[in-house]
Amino acid sequence: MKRTKIVHLLASQKSVDRVLIKGWLRTRRDSKGFSFLEVNDGSCLHNVQVIADEKLENYADIKQLLTGSAVAVIGNLVASSGSGQSWEIQAQKIEVISGAPDSYPLQKKRHSDEYLRTIAHLRPRTNKYGAAFRIRSDLSFAVHKFFKDRGFTYIHSPVITASDCEGAGELFHVTSLDLNRVPLKNGQTDYDQDFFGKEANLTVSGQLAAEMFALALGDVYTFGPTFRAENSNTRRHAAEFWMIEPEMAFCDLKGNMDLGEELVKYLVTFVLQECRYDLELFARFVDKSLLPTLDTIATSNFVRLPYAEAVELLSRSNRKFEYAVASGKDLQSEHERYLTEEHFKKPVIVYDYPKEIKPFYMRMNDDDRTVAAMDVLLPSIGEIIGGSQREERLSVLESRMEEMGMSQEPYWWYLDSRRYGSVEHSGFGLGFERLLMLVTGIGNIRDVIPFPRTPKNIDF
Ligand code: 4AD
Ligand code: MG
Repeated sequence: MKRTKIVHLLASQKSVDRVLIKGWLRTRRDSKGFSFLEVNDGSCLHNVQVIADEKLENYADIKQLLTGSAVAVIGNLVASSGSGQSWEIQAQKIEVISGAPDSYPLQKKRHSDEYLRTIAHLRPRTNKYGAAFRIRSDLSFAVHKFFKDRGFTYIHSPVITASDCEGAGELFHVTSLDLNRVPLKNGQTDYDQDFFGKEANLTVSGQLAAEMFALALGDVYTFGPTFRAENSNTRRHAAEFWMIEPEMAFCDLKGNMDLGEELVKYLVTFVLQECRYDLELFARFVDKSLLPTLDTIATSNFVRLPYAEAVELLSRSNRKFEYAVASGKDLQSEHERYLTEEHFKKPVIVYDYPKEIKPFYMRMNDDDRTVAAMDVLLPSIGEIIGGSQREERLSVLESRMEEMGMSQEPYWWYLDSRRYGSVEHSGFGLGFERLLMLVTGIGNIRDVIPFPRTPKNIDF
């Protein structure tokens, strides 16, 4: 007999004879002559109630079942007279697949996020985390649909690279050398003897690879894991996170901002329409203002604000910030929040940043001081997108690298793309976990990725 998933049963239009479900017991309670089992199989937020009659041959065993046990149930799906559910199963047979002792850590009560992080291997069995990870899955699909519908080609950029795209030096090294016996040459590590014959690291961004493919296939995107050894313990930073990086040939900064805005609105609208049940859990228990917040983002025009105006506006705000606002310095999250939450009360795209605070590849503006960068800032999340128009002029790019003290030799292939048929092009990176924080209202990045990697945290 084929198992039916609970999500399909609960959507049934009529009663059904003899269905088979398999799942885990959330709770069980007894009344005279019956035991009521709440079973969840992860296919949706809702449990199905199973009614076990004392006439079942293994009723004594069923009455011993505790939360967390795995069961298979055959029975009839019938209209439920209980409140809060339309269907229930009258069991004809209940097989105990395996039990769970009362030491099972997820007894029926609310647990704190902090506690659940210590049992990250079990937390997907809670309502909240089940819902979060179903949304994560649906949103991944939506990302691919968005780009597929617009004719973008999906590129698998390498995870191991020899370059530091962002130039921030936050690299995890990749080596096959014996770290207890590192070969030396002139007192330095001899990378000639390493696996790749040179220093390698986990990628911080798929951008450089995506650019090469945009300059061949036109519109492309990557969607994969990226890694940063950034030793900052914040609620928005993880050492391993997923990034969506579109890259478009024949596209300037304005087109880039347009796509970023369209993508964010599309994904938010998708969740509002397609993940309604799971979303309601977050709207009820995590963030009461979640639905109006998402509606605002889906329907408002994002403000577009040059960096210089952002700095002026912040300076004039008479607000005491922890970090002073000054031209030439990066915006801190408190500044981003002031702009999006207090001043404009909607998403803001800040563009044309001073070149000193941005990476080498961004296109120099005519003023010679700013680059064609853009960051999309959202209420409560802060920066969700970072991107730019790329420097397509070989000589300008070379002098910029020189100015920044970068060696051109390892980037010979990147520079080649500016030698042969170089064209205007642009792209950005959207942090997938930050998007999930946005749509669920979950306040900590550690709770939207299955097994978070943060400083001193890699047990699971
Ligand atoms: O602004 P970033 O560093 O941009 C880049 O890496 C570009 N190469 C992207 C491109 O143009 N193709 O990162 C992009 C986004 C950020 O806006 C943020 O949402 C997310 O990636 N992000 C992080 N998310 C979680 N943890 C971290 N440590 C993150 N660092 C960046
Ligand atoms: Mg950034």
